[in-house]
Amino acid sequence: MSLVLITGGLGFIGSHTCLSLLTKGLDVLIIDSLVNSSKENFLNIKNLVKNNYKPQVGKVFFLKGDLRNNKWLDEIFKKQISIDNPIDSVIHFAGLKSVEESVLNPIKYWDANINSTLSLLSSMEKFNCNSIVFSSSATIYKPVYEGRITENSLKEPINPYGNTKNTIETFLKDLYISDKKKWKIINLRYFNPVGAHESGKIGEETVGKPSNLFPILGKVISGEMENLSIFGKDWPTKDGTCVRDYIHVMDLAEAHFSALQFLKNNPTQFKSINIGTGKGYTVLEIVEKYSKLNNVDIPYKFSDRRSGDASSVVADNTLALELLNWKPQKNIEDCCVDSYRFLLNKLSKIK
Ligand code: NAD
Ligand code: UFG
Repeated sequence: MSLVLITGGLGFIGSHTCLSLLTKGLDVLIIDSLVNSSKENFLNIKNLVKNNYKPQVGKVFFLKGDLRNNKWLDEIFKKQISIDNPIDSVIHFAGLKSVEESVLNPIKYWDANINSTLSLLSSMEKFNCNSIVFSSSATIYKPVYEGRITENSLKEPINPYGNTKNTIETFLKDLYISDKKKWKIINLRYFNPVGAHESGKIGEETVGKPSNLFPILGKVISGEMENLSIFGKDWPTKDGTCVRDYIHVMDLAEAHFSALQFLKNNPTQFKSINIGTGKGYTVLEIVEKYSKLNNVDIPYKFSDRRSGDASSVVADNTLALELLNWKPQKNIEDCCVDSYRFLLNKLSKIK
């Protein structure tokens, strides 16, 4: 038997990854403090698995708690060993992710992201669980003006959130070097995760005010926001708005399954891998596609550049294609349509 611990498994990317692993027959234990998600997502995952995927799906368990509670975490690892179902690998999503909030409250971010990882890794070491896939981010790279970003591009985060991700990668490397016969570590550096599961039942929920493009599009369409502010129209891109590499969350989920398989089938190692599509779209292109495909109006206005934005952030995903036996299956149209389906489903529950 093999049990995967998924920290932050009820969040946006975690919930889709749980679904992906379960449908492939892996058992999953979710730990989540619900600081940015809700228990309802656990039921959503269970129902999706029960209703759509039969019969050889894995089992899913959920424990509510904060990773920084190290004694509690130790007890979980210990208990799993005692019932002969040890945790044999971890996907570590749990953390705080708002760039803006991290600038205003760096202590909160360093505490949440660093201390939870420290606690997790010390429990893993204590109970001999040595495989981890870590949620890193393209935000650790120095902003560039054009071209694709490779894993060897310069790392130079420009906000506290990015600094915590970069620091965790460094910490993981130290751990790997401490005993090269022990650890199997992959940092997945995500570009811009968007979209939702095709059922529309799970997707990106934000507690509080969103700051990312797709959730904001949702607020504009639902009428909660009057219009979209497009940050800058004089960037050195084809239409003057910023370019990003939007990756469908189900493709991202599959990348985690592939990363786990890679760790299972290979000796100890430390790798960092970009997860993106390699294709970039401007903000205006997204607005146009989203409104046309879903037949909705998206009023927008231009405003000043947002501090910390980069002109273009597009992945060179060659390494992921080579190593992980993985390839994005969805396109930008799927991202727009699936996001909207999730939005409609959410709005229908509110009415
Ligand atoms: P999310 O906020 O939806 O999910 C994170 C989950 O972790 C939430 O359910 C939250 O309740 C939980 N959590 C937070 N701190 C915790 C703690 N101390 N103990 C237990 N649970 C805790 O975020 P997401 O978009 O699913 O992102 C997942 C990971 O991927 C994060 O680490 C994020 O930094 C990283 N990432 C996200 C993006 C993105 O644009 N969404 C891009 C790059 C990297
Ligand atoms: N944008 C607007 N108006 C808005 C929101 C966003 O014009 O109201 C633009 C941004 O300027 C940017 C694009 O839409 O050009 C995407 O912005 P997001 O905020 O959705 O995403 P970012 O690329 O800024 O950053 C995101 C996550 C980070 C993650 C990074 C990885 O917020 O956590 O992708 O590249 F690290």
